[in-house]
Amino acid sequence: MKTKKMSEIFIHLDETHSTNSYLRELITKEKEQPEGTVVVTDYQTAGRGQRGNSWESERGKNLMFSLLLHPDHIPAGKQFILSQLISLAIVTVLQEYDPHFSIKWPNDIYWKEKKIAGMLIEVDITGSMLSNAIAGIGININQTSFKSNAPNPVSLVQITGKKHNLPELLEKLLDRIADEYSGYSPEKEEEIIQRYKNLLFRNKGVHPYLCEGEIFNASIEGIEANGHLILKKENGSIRSFAFKEISFVI
Ligand code: BTN
Repeated sequence: MKTKKMSEIFIHLDETHSTNSYLRELITKEKEQPEGTVVVTDYQTAGRGQRGNSWESERGKNLMFSLLLHPDHIPAGKQFILSQLISLAIVTVLQEYDPHFSIKWPNDIYWKEKKIAGMLIEVDITGSMLSNAIAGIGININQTSFKSNAPNPVSLVQITGKKHNLPELLEKLLDRIADEYSGYSPEKEEEIIQRYKNLLFRNKGVHPYLCEGEIFNASIEGIEANGHLILKKENGSIRSFAFKEISFVI
């Protein structure tokens, strides 16, 4: 197993606390690892999600992996580019199985109104540029029932009605992520934002959002380079929102 155009270091663990934490410990204790190093596991005892949430996944049923990148050509203020490139890669691969996948801003992957995948990207910054990025990705593949309190999970087997080969899928995903990542240049930013916007969940029409206890209807106007979501309220006012400021009402 290897990533196209990147390192061939591939660490498979039967079980670990969290692949992101494992990779973090590896680069802290063992010094720098090559770009493209991948840690994948069958089971996490302390899987981590966004906003301090946990990430639960049945043993051996799903994909859980972390990829090490060295995005030292990307300014710290533009770290959202990584979320966009990885989200685009995941949706592109999943769309081979069904057309109804989208990116729920900022970086959840949805099928219709349900969540199939999430990512936790943890970066180090040196000066004004990114240095390390640990991109941790969890995708529900062969799990058929969900017991955790995650609100609206779905898996690929529930969508397609058949079981999927995890190593094959992982290889496809890593290749696609490598393609997106190595194809990035500052001149391509507009095109990346446009592709990301075209795949956004609820990118058409007016939908309800929750901000500071208030629910309001708005439409997505765009995405700023820092990843903030630009919404247009029904009264015509336009405002951008940072990640923790707003949530979708689903
Ligand atoms: C989220 O949607 O809240 C993000 C979930 C990220 C889960 C993945 S699974 C592999 C990697 N290791 C972790 O501990 N978390 C990420």
